[in-house]
Parts: sequence; structure tokens; C-alpha cells
Amino acid sequence: MVKGLTKALVVYYSTYGNTEKLAKALAAGLQSVGIDTDTAKVDAVSFDKLGEIDLLCVGSPVHAWNAAKPAREFLDSLKSLDGLSGKKAFAFDTKLRSRFAGSAGGKIEKKLKNMGLVVAKPAISAIVLGKEGPLEEGAEEAFKQIGVELAGLM
Ligand SMILES: Cc1cc2nc3c(=O)[nH]c(=O)nc-3n(C[C@H](O)[C@H](O)[C@H](O)COP(=O)(O)O)c2cc1C
Repeated sequence: MVKGLTKALVVYYSTYGNTEKLAKALAAGLQSVGIDTDTAKVDAVSFDKLGEIDLLCVGSPVHAWNAAKPAREFLDSLKSLDGLSGKKAFAFDTKLRSRFAGSAGGKIEKKLKNMGLVVAKPAISAIVLGKEGPLEEGAEEAFKQIGVELAGLM
């Protein structure tokens, strides 16, 4: 067990399942070093349990150069909550390999920061090879490793 961090939640939105796979890989990485970690789609988050977590990870596909609408709505719904300030945060996104891809992770990260969360590690993007995927080879393994690393940063 890593000192100081006991509980994490990975919240994601995913249309085609790619971001979901990364959310689960991230959670598996955290769990592999003893962090009690749940994953939840944006519309299935138990708000009353958010107070218990030490690390909140939020992931979304890039839709029109931004986070997907359900992910943005989730973030907006956090604004009315007390008690998130000071918790650790990490944001991630999936997007196409294009210089016009835009990003979502940085925008998610900024919103979390504005709510008083502390960015544990700068946002990371993973590449999908087409709109519906698949993920670039090795992305899931990389995200599992990021989970391990996040646990170590606490
Ligand atoms: C409505 C829509 C808008 C999109 N806009 C972008 C975009 O601006 N930039 C980009 O790189 N990919 C864009 N994509 C591709 C998504 O990033 C890709 O579908 C997503 O990463 C796949 O993840 P998911 O399986 O979790 O939905 C868009 C996809 C959809 C459906």
C-alpha cells in the first residue's frame, strides 16, 4: 500500500469503448499496487462517495477539439460539491493522430484545477487509429503503467 493514498476513482465517457479500456487499464495499474480503485462511466458516478476518494481520474474522447459533452456535463456537476478541494487529479483523453485533433485532457485538467484539485501528473493523450478505434498498440499497457506511477506520486 502506498502511504497517503488509499482510494481512487476513474471516471470516463466513451462512445466506442476505447476510452473505457484505458480507464480500466489505469484502474488495474492503481489496483496492482494496492490502491482501492473504482471505475465509473460519467452517468453512473455516486456523488456521495466522492468525498472518500484521494485521487480522481477523468477521461474522455476528444469530440470537436474538446471533451465529449457528457464528460463536460459531469465536470460541471462537480462544481456544486464541497470537499473535492485538495484531492489529487489526473486527466486523459483519446484522439486521432492529426495535427488538427485538438485535445480534451488539458481542458479537463484545468476544470479540475479550478475546483481546487491538485494535478498529480499532467494530462496524457492516447491515440486511436480510427474514429471507432482501435487504440494504438501498447496504449493499455502504457495506461496500466501510468496507474502504477500515479500511485507512486502520492
Ligand atoms: C462527434 C465526434 C467528434 C470527434 N471529434 C474529434 C476531434 O475533434 N479530434 C479528434 O482527434 N478526434 C475526434 N473524434 C474521434 C474521437 O476522438 C474517437 O472517436 C475517440 O477517441 C474514440 O474513443 P471512444 O471509443 O472512447 O469513444 C470525434 C469523434 C466523434 C464521434
